[in-house]
Amino acid sequence: MQGIAVLDAGGQYCHLLARRVREVGIQSHVLPIDTPAEPLGAISGIIISGGPRSVTEPNSPRIHPSILSMGVPILGICYGHQLLAATMPGGRVKPSYSREYGLANLQLAAPSVNGIFSGFPVYSRVWVSHGDSVDALPNGFEVLGSTEDCAVAAMANDELRMFGVQFHPEVTHTEHGQRLLENFVTEVCRCIPHWKPSSAEAIEAIKADIRTKVGETKNVLFFVSGGVDSTVAYKLCADALGQDRVHGVYVDTGFMRRNESDEVMAAYQAAGLRHVRRRDASAEFLGAVGGEVEPEIKRRRIGGSFLTVEEDVLEHLPPGEWLLGQGTIYPDTIESGGTKESALIKTHHNRVPELLRRIEAGEIVEPLAQFYKDEVRAIGRALGLPSQLIDKQPFPGPGLAVRFLCTKERAGWSDDARLSKMAAAVGLRARVLPVRGVGVQGDERTYAHVALVSGRYDETVIAELAPAITNTIREVNRVAYWVGGKGSVEEFQVEPTTVSRPALDVLREADAVVREILADYDTQKRIWQCPVVMLPLKRNAESAVVIRPVESHDGMTAQYSKLPQHVLERLAAAVLRVRGVSALLYDVTNKPPATIEWE
Ligand code: XMP
Repeated sequence: MQGIAVLDAGGQYCHLLARRVREVGIQSHVLPIDTPAEPLGAISGIIISGGPRSVTEPNSPRIHPSILSMGVPILGICYGHQLLAATMPGGRVKPSYSREYGLANLQLAAPSVNGIFSGFPVYSRVWVSHGDSVDALPNGFEVLGSTEDCAVAAMANDELRMFGVQFHPEVTHTEHGQRLLENFVTEVCRCIPHWKPSSAEAIEAIKADIRTKVGETKNVLFFVSGGVDSTVAYKLCADALGQDRVHGVYVDTGFMRRNESDEVMAAYQAAGLRHVRRRDASAEFLGAVGGEVEPEIKRRRIGGSFLTVEEDVLEHLPPGEWLLGQGTIYPDTIESGGTKESALIKTHHNRVPELLRRIEAGEIVEPLAQFYKDEVRAIGRALGLPSQLIDKQPFPGPGLAVRFLCTKERAGWSDDARLSKMAAAVGLRARVLPVRGVGVQGDERTYAHVALVSGRYDETVIAELAPAITNTIREVNRVAYWVGGKGSVEEFQVEPTTVSRPALDVLREADAVVREILADYDTQKRIWQCPVVMLPLKRNAESAVVIRPVESHDGMTAQYSKLPQHVLERLAAAVLRVRGVSALLYDVTNKPPATIEWE
């Protein structure tokens, strides 16, 4: 094995590390955390990833002792950093009282001209997501840098060529993060860059894999969604096997946006993807989620409905001749708890148990399973697909159904003294919205409350208040700002709500209005995606909706897009004209701690 080995402690960003190394032009391999030295052969360096566990817990993931005597450089990241401290003599880790999520300021102990911080300024912004911290340095290590809440944010033992960083260099929000990884692999591990992702050579390798997997005689059936991933996967298979051996079915779930199904079918035609037909299954999907309120159950029901439709289509095909193609990309696998140590954040519709069984039986082709969204876009462009299909904002398979918060209970507002105090200190009001949404904190799934902030809008104040709230109040993983409503906040209350066709129509209309205004405002296309979510928060039977504009590169981490007041006012005026909508909220949380979708 050559290049860099990334030992997987179950972190949400483990595979991202491997991919960042590939971007430098070096081969990388993701391997289980307890891989011993022997199969690593001629590896040039090892990175130990972050993970959801605490090294202070018994039975938490450990590296194999033989790794330490290989003599190759080791870089530990987050959990990996703590694991180095806990494993090397003299080191110690302890759970810290405050958690650190989001951006922090790294201060280097001294400017560095070689090693992992070569060329770094003394101060830089880094992305953190952790509870524990290194409490005592292992023997022979020195502190390279610290943040406000973490004294040992980076450490090194130059003689052993071992390094640890508490922050995540692999996420794009860490300034100079890629430089750190590049320093490690080129300067410390002395690898020579030679490999390029999405090159003609890499695409040819994907096509060759498809031909091997499918063989000479079988064909591939795709259930396409009109999104980037399934379209690129379909096109790869069509190019590898020939158009006639690849067919597609577009399932209209009824959870699509306004006019979307017609537009998708027209775009396939225009792109020359000949064998795609449409099937209306909206009644089945609605029936499956109707009445359910728990997000994971909704997701499993939707996954089940996809499967029923798929089985029905497959049953009518000659047995043994067709494999199933899917546009699964890497984040779908990792967030579905699909690697050995990773935690379940949410079940993606193409990772339900029945499909996992098919994957094990070798009946599924997933040519993009190792890639991230932006890599998939680059591949799509290289294949000549039009921008209309490739540069589309991502839209989840379960569609508007996961943008619809449901509850069985009626509930009023509750105050939290700490929350009120934090908001009052900056002249705002904050209450706990009595609904819960999905989040991801410290690499684990959370299902927690939303803090609703109201008062005068000041972009800078809100940007500082939101992370302060989620870092301090454990019961809250998301913060939304009240933009405006057809009544004051107190007149709204949470009422029992489940997914229904009329409510979906209201959401579709609100979503279309928001998309139109944001397209007009965001000419630079900084907004990566903007879910519009329906809340069970109501006044006079009309619902509040929330916008969630985010900037991201791969969906694994995201920063909320800061919108100026005049845009918020324009959005509120337009959205409140939609019949059935009574208030507009604006999600001001990064990921982590909140996921992009609200569920
Ligand atoms: P989260 O909500 O996990 O979203 O922060 C990350 C990205 O994934 C998309 N997403 C999905 N895509 N099937 C998909 O094809 C799904 O079940 C699914 N759930 C979330 C989400 O829209 C965002 O771009």
